[in-house]
Amino acid sequence: MEVSWLLILPLLYIIAALALISKRIAKQKPQPKLPPGPKPWPIIGNLNLIGSIPHQSFHFLSRKYGEIMLLKFGKFPVVVASSPEIAKQFLKIHDTVFASRPALAAGKYTSYNYSDMMWAPYGPYWRQTRKIYLSEVFSARRLESFEHIRMEEGRNFISSLRSLSGKRVVLRDHLMRLTLSTISRIAIGNKYFSESENEKSIIKMDELRGMLDEWFLLNGVFNIGDWIPWLSSLDLQGYVKKMMDLHKKLDRFLTSVIDDHLDRRNEEKGFHSKDVADKLLQLAEDPNLEVRLTRDCVKALVQNLLVGGTDTSATTVEWTLHEILRQPHILQKAKEELNRVIGRNRWVEENDCSQLTYIDAIIMESMRLHPLGTLLGPHYAIEDCKVAGYDISKGTTVLINTWSIGRDPISWDKPEEFLPERFIGKEIDMLGSNFALLPFGSGRRRCPGYNLGLKVVRTTLANLLHGFELKLVEGMRIEDICMEEEYGLSTHPKKPLEIIVEPTLSSHLC
Ligand code: HEM
Repeated sequence: MEVSWLLILPLLYIIAALALISKRIAKQKPQPKLPPGPKPWPIIGNLNLIGSIPHQSFHFLSRKYGEIMLLKFGKFPVVVASSPEIAKQFLKIHDTVFASRPALAAGKYTSYNYSDMMWAPYGPYWRQTRKIYLSEVFSARRLESFEHIRMEEGRNFISSLRSLSGKRVVLRDHLMRLTLSTISRIAIGNKYFSESENEKSIIKMDELRGMLDEWFLLNGVFNIGDWIPWLSSLDLQGYVKKMMDLHKKLDRFLTSVIDDHLDRRNEEKGFHSKDVADKLLQLAEDPNLEVRLTRDCVKALVQNLLVGGTDTSATTVEWTLHEILRQPHILQKAKEELNRVIGRNRWVEENDCSQLTYIDAIIMESMRLHPLGTLLGPHYAIEDCKVAGYDISKGTTVLINTWSIGRDPISWDKPEEFLPERFIGKEIDMLGSNFALLPFGSGRRRCPGYNLGLKVVRTTLANLLHGFELKLVEGMRIEDICMEEEYGLSTHPKKPLEIIVEPTLSSHLC
């Protein structure tokens, strides 16, 4: 059938006129003012610009595009903040808008469908979990009640190192064992794992530790399926499969722990809770709770404590040692302070730490150059918002580059140098009110465990320096200490440090 041009031509005119009108209307609408950033490619956006150490990739990009930078991951907007002032805009001035988390595969598959505090979206459930943690784990009273656990585990750590006098020691292994034993006694009470193959237990300690390490690694990955959803079913990098496998293993362990807690609860007359898991199970039965705590929520929150309490404090001590072993004069100065304040007749206790100002300066300096959460947890905009004159749309992911901020030449003199003295005699806060130093973040999502973490880091480092001569293994020079990073939700030294430890305090003090 022939179609007459007389019919088609008017139709084409109408379509062209409509297109012109809609273009005019679009032009009249004010265009959003977006932060500067590299031009995105179709489909992948700027994913091609992220290397294996993302905070360093963003650091170099920010030199070109500035302190607030817009990238596209696939088609999704991601803003990177690289200066204290811009961090303050997101974490303080517009805190409520950016206090949520993006719904990434890691939170879904490794944290019981966003049921832990780390991945829970901003809202009533997250608020409730935070309240529970703050009253049941991190209040001053609760932390004091756990002091004997920290002391006992600290002593075990010292004894195990003393028994290895003169031998090569991978310090990370010992630090992780210390932090894992401490937090697990607080979170789940009795140890459910053993150190040796012979003892009967649900899981071997190193196996659990390996799982927690993997959790951190997988929770920091840039999973392509998160950003290009139509590719997610292909799981091109294999991350989702790894997440699911890890979840299965962790869930098997946590289910046994929770079942055991429930059995004890049913068997014991006049039962009272002994650890955080007991308390959470008790709260799960509370009909007045705003949001019901399911069994999965309890497991997610217990897992969150094990994860948050293990890797973070251990890695902070590890980075600090990497730095100070390269500078013997700092090590010497720290030892002098310990001899002066503590003396040679005892180990360091928690309440000594307020007098150890040089040790504290060393820790702050280490956290400035090696913040564990180099990009914090990802933040997420729940509304449109104007930040520093730019339009940030609802649904934007926000990364705060604390690694870059710690090297900000405007805030820090000689930023690349490790100089603890910069903190001496100055009141520099690291708990969230000084936006040039954000090892724990700031605002609503700030780390709730900072107090516990700092107690463990301070006493562990102080006792290591006070009671041991720390030597590099034979043939190793100071320049051989590897300062390269391995990226994850917490960023580790790439190569664990092997050293020789020689006890220097009298054996009867243990
Ligand atoms: C030196 C030790 C520690 C460091 C450096 C550290 C660092 C951090 C950082 C950077 C964040 C992300 C903040 C944000 O996204 O804005 C965070 C969140 C968190 N940390 Fe820590 N942390 C430490 C110790 C701990 C401990 C001991 C626990 C628990 C036992 C813990 C539990 C958590 C939890 C549950 C969150 C998620 C908070 C939320 O999203 O609301 N942390 N931590």
